[in-house]
Amino acid sequence: MNNVELVAIADVNEAEAQRVGAMMGVPHVYTDLHKLLARDDIQAVDVCLHNNYHMAATIAAFEAGKDVFCEKPMAGAYIDALKMWEASQATGRNFGIQFVTMYANEAKAAKSIIDSGQLGRIYHARSYGFRRRGRPYVDGYGTPNFVQKQHSAGGALYDMGVYHISTLLWLIGLPKVERITGKAYQEIEMDEKRRAASGYNVEELGVGFVRFEGGLSLDILEAWAVHMDKFDGSMILGNQAGLRLEPFGFYRSLGISTSTAWPTWPASIGASTTYVKMATPMMARNNTGLQPYRAACH
Ligand SMILES: NC(=O)c1ccc[n+]([C@@H]2O[C@H](COP(=O)([O-])OP(=O)(O)OC[C@H]3O[C@@H](n4cnc5c(N)ncnc54)[C@H](O)[C@@H]3O)[C@@H](O)[C@H]2O)c1
Repeated sequence: MNNVELVAIADVNEAEAQRVGAMMGVPHVYTDLHKLLARDDIQAVDVCLHNNYHMAATIAAFEAGKDVFCEKPMAGAYIDALKMWEASQATGRNFGIQFVTMYANEAKAAKSIIDSGQLGRIYHARSYGFRRRGRPYVDGYGTPNFVQKQHSAGGALYDMGVYHISTLLWLIGLPKVERITGKAYQEIEMDEKRRAASGYNVEELGVGFVRFEGGLSLDILEAWAVHMDKFDGSMILGNQAGLRLEPFGFYRSLGISTSTAWPTWPASIGASTTYVKMATPMMARNNTGLQPYRAACH
């Protein structure tokens, strides 16, 4: 980052703090976060501890007069996240959470299409995240902290699901939740030595269904490991058009044609945008003389 100097690192594991400090050329290394926070030459802190430790470190940083950028998920529990938000408000400090997916081109394109009203009335959203074999540590990368509830609070939903769910909630306008149901699974086999070494006790598949005020719904399917080759990307359905985030797709009906000519590209969509796709599902109605639309524009 421009105009940012990394002044100090704190980690309870001194060897790790020294290793990262040497690698990144950071001059000051602490094993006690509060000693780092006592420095008056630090304006902001990046909290990148595991999920259940975000709350205490973040609030300590606010109380020491620092701004905070915190890793996702915001916390391991709603009550912790609420305390963090309240502390930021009480101390007047800046507070950001690392949700990089909200800044993706696909999310920005979706937001601009939704804000322009082209989806019509949004009635359902789907949060999908897929890894065929991607459980941290047991499948080959990351630390066991990711797969131990006492540190991470949860598995696939807490690690990856939060990216997809938060982006969708933002896109659909943060409607008020009425009811949530869900289930978590750990069913897929894993290397037994790594299971034992890691203390694995979190979900690899999380599913959910959310009802919001006003009739809107959201379904969730988030996999770290599953016997399947792919899931479609997250999507948002409106009564006039639908959006998929990955790969990006925008789908709408062009209406019913009474001629054999191909439909013309509506100027309002902006034909030069490379991300806009259209596909129309109109069926041929031979007995009425109506023609099927087969437009698929990129
Ligand atoms: N690793 C990734 O690819 C990745 C990507 C995006 C977000 N994140 C998020 O970043 C956070 C950390 O993940 P990670 O992969 O860096 O974990 P990690 O296990 O590699 O590192 C966490 C570090 O925190 C230290 N620690 C634990 N308690 C502490 C305390 N009280 N004070 C100071 N240090 C303490 C541990 O010693 C460890 O070195 C998680 O919230 C995770 O969701 C990680």
